[in-house]
Amino acid sequence: MQADAGYHGLMTVAKLHLSTSPASEVEADVLVIGVIKTESGPQLVDDSPSLSSFTEALGAVGATGAQDEFLRIPASGIGANAVAFIGIGDNELSPETLRYAAGSAARQLRGAASIALALGAQSSDDTLAVLEGAAIGAYSYDAYRSTKPEAAKSLASDITVLSQVDDDALIERARIIAHATHVTRDLVNEAPGELYPETFADRAGKLAALDNVEVEVLAEKELEEGGFGGILGVGQGSSRGPRLVKLSYNPAGATKHLALVGKGITFDSGGLSLKPGLGMIGMKFDMSGAATVMAVLEACAKLGTNVRLTAWLCLAENMPSGTAIRPNDVLTIRGGKTVEVLNTDAEGRLVMADGLVVASEENPDAIVDIATLTGAAVVALGNRYAGTMGDKQLVDRVIAVADRVGEPFWPMPIGPELRSMLASDIADIANIKAGTTAGGMLVAAAFLKDFVGKRADSSETIPWAHIDIAGPSDNRGGGWGYVGKGATGIGVRTLIELAEDFSRP
Ligand code: BES
Ligand code: ZN
Ligand code: ZN
Repeated sequence: MQADAGYHGLMTVAKLHLSTSPASEVEADVLVIGVIKTESGPQLVDDSPSLSSFTEALGAVGATGAQDEFLRIPASGIGANAVAFIGIGDNELSPETLRYAAGSAARQLRGAASIALALGAQSSDDTLAVLEGAAIGAYSYDAYRSTKPEAAKSLASDITVLSQVDDDALIERARIIAHATHVTRDLVNEAPGELYPETFADRAGKLAALDNVEVEVLAEKELEEGGFGGILGVGQGSSRGPRLVKLSYNPAGATKHLALVGKGITFDSGGLSLKPGLGMIGMKFDMSGAATVMAVLEACAKLGTNVRLTAWLCLAENMPSGTAIRPNDVLTIRGGKTVEVLNTDAEGRLVMADGLVVASEENPDAIVDIATLTGAAVVALGNRYAGTMGDKQLVDRVIAVADRVGEPFWPMPIGPELRSMLASDIADIANIKAGTTAGGMLVAAAFLKDFVGKRADSSETIPWAHIDIAGPSDNRGGGWGYVGKGATGIGVRTLIELAEDFSRP
């Protein structure tokens, strides 16, 4: 994929190693040692005698052990050329605090080709977290810089994690997860003039090379034949037509089927309900959900996860023009339900409606959708938490899995009072409640709920969860932990873990 002309995804995963050697003996440009914040002051997490001299240095450089604190000093008499202290904070050591610290160090450490991380990893979970954090933290998006960062400023390409556990399977897993995160970030960070529905679908097409993976791309003609009025309607204002990509991973012997639906608006101008200038900045990220489900399917295929997965990428560019949909237009979603469009900027739910209907037709065991759906999600939950809505049992399961992999997901309700707000004067449903922003994230979820289908031969609806990542998908502030500026890749780890959860009997 990376050799393609015009493909601006350049980030590869660093080489990862595990070592059970004492920290003082490991050869690397920089040895990173974790520092815990305690009431009696900062403490090295690795208390081996050969490192005790660095305890004095802690005071000299003013280390406190706070999270994201990064201090680098020269070193002699050990295998590494320099030492860096990374703060772990005062939280209990857990996979997430270790993932965070490893990522923070890898992100802030530039100019060292090889780094070794002594963060006190004991268990397999700890070790995987450090590997993952370091690999995910060592990311920066430089595709459009005319001067590439000189060697002196580049990120580590070789990462050794010191651990009691030496297991190549952990390295392989961390590589696959980091690759999925990087792919998602690359796609989200790429300029919208280059990544549009057709080129996005082309990238997805490459996954057909993987075992047990099939790719189907529906262009305008097929979308018309299939009655995908939401995707077509949103896409009709753009000179670049919409696409629906179906990615199927179907390993022999899988007993469960999980469907994933991703919002893929490659640029959201708002359409005729045009966004104001400032509000439009960053709207290239409105395809984060589609990028996430694509990367998750790739990762699961590589991991050989024993679950059938179908990922639906609902791709369109939302533009204002003489051919664009207007407020008051009525679209017919796949399956026949009609939607009166009262605001063309509430376009995500229109493309997702088609995606949820077609995903339901295959009668999967569950449907999870992920979307940068509402500005209201940012108001409600800020920039770190992903709002999680839908069927309680599935929502609880998604959140439990998110907790396990250190992604902050938070449950939000879809109350029974919401659906009536979307009554339309002329169609089956309206896409917004005009004149109020109250509970906007929940209203959008209530809209989506209407399009989740029933289980075959039953009146029960298919278990469904909806994840609104409008807040955490894009990091506009400074870096923290394993997250740098721009696309974060939130949701990737959770959905991989969820797929694995479904693969267990
Ligand atoms: N892509 C946006 C959601 C969004 C807005 C994400 C701001 C991050 C920051 C979505 O398509 C949208 O514009 N939603 C509208 C809905 C409204 C018209 C009901 C919004 O949130 O303002
Ligand atoms: Zn919009
Ligand atoms: Zn949008």
